[in-house]
Amino acid sequence: MLCLHHLRCITHITILALLVQVSRAADTWMTALDTYFQIACPTGQTIKHLESVHDNTHEDRVWNISCARLPNWVDLTECEWSGYQNNYDETVIFQCPDDDVITGIESIHDNSKEDRMWSFQCCNPQDYVTHSCLYTPFMNTYDNLLNYRVPVDYVLRGVESINDESHRDRIFKFEICKLAPADSNTHGIVG
Ligand SMILES: *[C@@H]1O[C@H](CO)[C@@H](O)[C@H](O)[C@H]1NC(C)=O
Repeated sequence: MLCLHHLRCITHITILALLVQVSRAADTWMTALDTYFQIACPTGQTIKHLESVHDNTHEDRVWNISCARLPNWVDLTECEWSGYQNNYDETVIFQCPDDDVITGIESIHDNSKEDRMWSFQCCNPQDYVTHSCLYTPFMNTYDNLLNYRVPVDYVLRGVESINDESHRDRIFKFEICKLAPADSNTHGIVG
């Protein structure tokens, strides 16, 4: 770039710096390729948003996982990690026990299998029960973006995931529920 005028030169450099900053922010993820991670929500929060992209060179995904308070500020107690729920290259079918909801995700990567094992933290929403549970469709396709936000009034209770050996990637679907006070008739109550 030729800078004939001082002012134009500064403008060019400023714009360049801005572009670099913007692309850096977009490339920032909470986890790293080929690396173990454990993300647990702050006390009292449950997983609300999962975003992930696949990298074909590393054959792995990076993740952004964020949390939110439960509807009605329900408390969460008795948190427990599930332990790994799958072997490499195998299907994940996980559902929190009882009326628990998912508040953390842990994952380890294997470079020869090019896959991950998955563990989940579940906590109990005191005096509340899950109801009106449903499964989403698969929320991503192989090698592509996953961007799933748990709808308002729902909580995340389960995760299912299938591995595909030719893509060396996984697709994910989610089980979500509403919450209602344990001592009430759940019909007609929106958690
Ligand atoms: C991931 O989350 C971090 C921290 O909240 C944020 O700075 C970054 O922009 C997010 N990345 C993407 C790709 O959304």
